[in-house]
Amino acid sequence: MNQQISVFASGTGSNFDAMMQDEKIADSIVLLVCDKPGAAVVAKAEKFGVATLVLDPKSYPTKQEYEKVIYEKLQALEVEWIFLAGYMRLIGETLLSHYEGRIINIHPSNLPDFPGKDAIGQAYRAGVSETGVTVHYVDEGMDTGPIIAQEQIEMIPDETEEQLKTRIQAVEHRLYPNVIKQLTQNVTEEL
Ligand code: GAR
Repeated sequence: MNQQISVFASGTGSNFDAMMQDEKIADSIVLLVCDKPGAAVVAKAEKFGVATLVLDPKSYPTKQEYEKVIYEKLQALEVEWIFLAGYMRLIGETLLSHYEGRIINIHPSNLPDFPGKDAIGQAYRAGVSETGVTVHYVDEGMDTGPIIAQEQIEMIPDETEEQLKTRIQAVEHRLYPNVIKQLTQNVTEEL
């Protein structure tokens, strides 16, 4: 049986959408967790008939209590893996302790370069000759943790930041589903 997956996202949800295009992954996704009520990714999940848990962290006194609500839902649905797809919040001790080695993140740069927000803009403005996409295990840091897969993307002279973003996201939408299948279904495809 496929191992059950929850996707955590805060924004547009193009990576969530890419996962849902893959039948094997789509069958395993049992919950979308979103920390931004009204984010476009929530409507995407509803369209696909994926259950959603939408929370406003500000309405919880502590991060621990916020994550406890998420953890209880994950347990109820027997979720085994958490994939962050543009979830712009650090994972705390409550989830890390229960899902050690089973929380994965994708980040649009060659980590350890350009962690945090707006990684594409950071790399673009820095004038580096290449950037990339990284998939990694999550620890308590911001976009830190052991790297699982990384793909380099060369900068193209005179390209706009928007064009670069389109190319980076195309890589994300191919790389992340492949890693997810390798980790959760023992499917070996070239990354
Ligand atoms: C993606 O590019 C993802 O790599 C990035 O947020 C974007 C979400 O896009 N994540 C981070 O920057 C994590 N630090 P999406 O909502 O269209 O999938």
